[in-house]
Amino acid sequence: MAVNVGPSVAPGDRVQSRALVPGPELTLVIPTMNERDNVAPLVERLDRVLAGIAWEAIFVDDDSLDGTRDEIRRLSERDGRLRCLHRIGRRGLSSACIEGIQASLSPYVAVMDADLQHDEALLPAMLDCLKAEPLDLVVGSRYVEGGGVGDWDRRRAGMSGLATALGRLVLKVRIADPMSGFFMIRRDAFERAVRSMSAVGFKILVDLLASSSKPVRLKELPYQFRQRHAGESKLDAFVAWEYLVLLADKILGPYVPVRFVLFSMVGGIGVVAHLTILGLALNVAHLSFALSQGLAAGIAMIGNFALNNFLTYSDRRLKGWNFLKGLVTFALVCGVGYAGNVGVAKYLFDSHSSSWWLAGIAGAAIGSVWNYAVSSVVTWKRK
Ligand code: GDD
Ligand code: MN
Repeated sequence: MAVNVGPSVAPGDRVQSRALVPGPELTLVIPTMNERDNVAPLVERLDRVLAGIAWEAIFVDDDSLDGTRDEIRRLSERDGRLRCLHRIGRRGLSSACIEGIQASLSPYVAVMDADLQHDEALLPAMLDCLKAEPLDLVVGSRYVEGGGVGDWDRRRAGMSGLATALGRLVLKVRIADPMSGFFMIRRDAFERAVRSMSAVGFKILVDLLASSSKPVRLKELPYQFRQRHAGESKLDAFVAWEYLVLLADKILGPYVPVRFVLFSMVGGIGVVAHLTILGLALNVAHLSFALSQGLAAGIAMIGNFALNNFLTYSDRRLKGWNFLKGLVTFALVCGVGYAGNVGVAKYLFDSHSSSWWLAGIAGAAIGSVWNYAVSSVVTWKRK
């Protein structure tokens, strides 16, 4: 078997021959966000355990600030098997892994974390299983005989158990550790799922298993989840929310896109806030209707911007300076919708003697349509 060794020429040298080197058999997709000090030890271990296998590694880096990419580049100078996909203005473990897999061509692809928590020694056995048995997927599992999570506290173990139980709602196959972020899959099996995947959040395996057009034939191999080597975990409270979004998207299916569901939810909260403020301004503060409606719409707009930035567009979240810029573009372009909102509401209130709340809802509805159309194109545009 041809082993894909690093180039014998220095970078920049002109390559004379056109020797044909077959592509790798196995691609490792490794998502990274600030993992500089883990990259070299990981590559060294991969090099050791994967001896005799033609492999490559694609690091999918979400714009790390700690020099992770420099480290990968440094190693790649003498190891042509390493590549890096640099994403800017985007976030998300699942979407990073999916893009990494899509950037590869090899028949087998493994996904693993960069922080050495996943036991790389399992990789050759995973590959052997996929080749020898009628399987689509081999999962590194902490919850089968021989596997484990080390010294997790009870809270984290409980959370993981609850997430696993909820995952059963959408999974089409039996699996002990659907939360695992360590697995190897045949490319054709991935292709059968990728078009339906939600790519939201952390739990790519749940997404994959729930999205496949055919039941996935899988096997779980035990391993011990290790302690993180260097750096910090990126798992935060928001991961739980993203997981619920993923489940909702899987259950609602292809009928309603998840972003629309979220935007409508935020819009619903906005309507309640709008009506509350409008009612208070009119009936308690005794302001004029136009002023009250304008005030309510203004506050609801700022609230909607912040909530959508946090929940609906969490993968493109605007921060710091960009948050302010986003708020300004949002406010500017929505000026037209804002005028429409107040204008329509006032018109209905004055000339059709509609009740104040009906006029308020009509105005807010017009404003929301504007907000959605405008925000997706201008404020949270894809990079
Ligand atoms: N590109 C990219 N983008 N990488 C990310 C992102 C992201 O938004 N978030 C995390 N990563 C990378 C990290 O740099 C690391 O290499 C890997 O994904 C896992 O992140 P951790 O922060 O170490 O997550 P964890 O250890 O809490 O979670 C792991 O275990 C879970 C099971 O308990 C992951 O493997 C999860 O997938 C798994 O569910
Ligand atoms: Mn980790």
